[in-house]
Amino acid sequence: MRAAGRFNAQLMDYIRDFVRPGITTEEIDRLVHEYTLGYGHVPAPLNYQGFPKSCCTSINEVICHGIPGPYLLKEGDIVNVDVTTIVGGWHGDQSETFLVGAVSEEARNVTQCALNALYLGIEAIRPGGRISDIGDAIVKEASRWGFSVVHEYIGHGLGRRFHQEPNIPHFPTPRSRSERIEPGTCFTIEPMINAGSRYTVMDPTDGWTVRTRDGQCSAQFEHTILMTETGPEMLTKTRRGPQKGHSFS
Ligand code: MF3
Ligand code: CO
Ligand code: CO
Repeated sequence: MRAAGRFNAQLMDYIRDFVRPGITTEEIDRLVHEYTLGYGHVPAPLNYQGFPKSCCTSINEVICHGIPGPYLLKEGDIVNVDVTTIVGGWHGDQSETFLVGAVSEEARNVTQCALNALYLGIEAIRPGGRISDIGDAIVKEASRWGFSVVHEYIGHGLGRRFHQEPNIPHFPTPRSRSERIEPGTCFTIEPMINAGSRYTVMDPTDGWTVRTRDGQCSAQFEHTILMTETGPEMLTKTRRGPQKGHSFS
């Protein structure tokens, strides 16, 4: 899992410089695809439950699972790129929201809130601690900004499988209040923060693209975490991406 996380982070650092105005999301997908295959690894999204591409690109009001296509990124967009690779049978999964040139204050704030929420979620957990500590920390941060937390899509355990136990909701639930994170567990934290209401709509045409119901923007960051005997270890730490405490202003 450490090797998978390390490679996935290296991939994220590779695509970073290409996410600029004028590139299409399918060009980003091709870069992800070729880079992964070039190292002999496998892009997990491709053909996963019928998903047609090697990564997800979610722009502005798209919350998650956007399908790369001919759309040209333009100044003012925010785009989440979510990459997952299979390395020797094990999965690494992470995403970042990129600001394309100068963006609106609201888009910047929702992106900042999502990054803060991810790190507050990571800091909230300890070996044997409650899963709900993550959701409590994330809801608190979203409320501070007047933003909302998506309920329908959540973090997840991963390993030989892309998605497995435990469920990691980004808000407290009765189940997350009773479940604990034992050492040895690998899972993601990937809060989706909406500028407006938390509600989602699935694109009826492609069956994948999830948008905000109110059309306001949404941002997300994701890391793969290993709970060790002493605390959480980030397996997908990038060299050049936004780190804990990063400010987008
Ligand atoms: N990478 C996403 C996650 O964080 C899942 C994408 S599933 C796909 O769990 F099929 F859309 F790729
Ligand atoms: Co994930
Ligand atoms: Co992901």
